[in-house]
Amino acid sequence: MTPLLTRRLLIRPFTLEDAPFILRLLNEPSFIEHIADKGVRTIDQAEDYLRQGPLASYAAHGHGLWMVQDRGAGTPMGMCGLIRREAFPEVDLGYAFVPEFWGCGYAREAAAACLAYAREALKLPGVLAIVSPGNAPSTRLLEALGFRSTGSMAWSPGDEVAVYRIALD
Ligand SMILES: CC(C)(COP(=O)(O)OP(=O)(O)OC[C@H]1O[C@@H](n2cnc3c(N)ncnc32)[C@H](O)[C@@H]1OP(=O)(O)O)[C@@H](O)C(=O)NCCC(=O)NCCS
Repeated sequence: MTPLLTRRLLIRPFTLEDAPFILRLLNEPSFIEHIADKGVRTIDQAEDYLRQGPLASYAAHGHGLWMVQDRGAGTPMGMCGLIRREAFPEVDLGYAFVPEFWGCGYAREAAAACLAYAREALKLPGVLAIVSPGNAPSTRLLEALGFRSTGSMAWSPGDEVAVYRIALD
C-alpha cells in the first residue's frame, strides 16, 4: 500500500515505531468501551499487537488497520482501515481516534479514503462495518458514509452488534 493522502490526513501502514501511540490509543476509555480491551499495557505489548495485528494483516492480505496522522505536522490522530476476518464474508472497516481529534470530520475523511482504496485498488464489491448499538458517533459516521444496516449478530455471548454494509460496485 502506498500512503493515502487526503485534504488534511496522511494514512500509511503502521511500523513498530508507532508503539507509543498504539499504547495510548488502545487504552483510551472510548476504545475499551466500544471496541475491546486488548490488554496492551506496555510498549513491548504494543509492539506485539502491531506485529500480530496490522503487520500480520498486511503480509497476509495486503491491507489492514493503518495509521492516520496530520499530513502537515505528522501528529498521530488515530487508526482506520480494512480488516479481513475469517468469520465474515467481506472485509470490514475499522477506525478509532484519540479524543482530541473527534468532532472535526477526520474519521469521516480517513474512512472515505479507505473506502475509495477498497473500491479502486482492491476492487471490492462491498465493505462491512460492525458497531455496538450504543455507539452513536460511530453509527452517525457509518450512515454519513453511505453504509446501511443489514441486521445484527452475536459478537460474543451476550454481546449483540449491529452489522452495516456499503456497496462499492
Ligand atoms: C467513532 C469515532 C471515530 C467518530 O469520531 P467523530 O470525530 O465523531 O467522527 P467524524 O469524523 O464523522 O466527525 C463527525 C463530527 O465532526 C463534525 N465536523 C466538523 N468538521 C467537519 C468536517 N469538515 N467534515 C465532517 N464533519 C465535521 C461533524 O459535525 C460531526 O459532529 P457531531 O458528532 O457533533 O455531529 C470516535 O468517536 C472514536 O474514535 N471512538 C472510539 C473508537 C470507536 O468507537 N470506534 C468505532 C468502533 S465501531
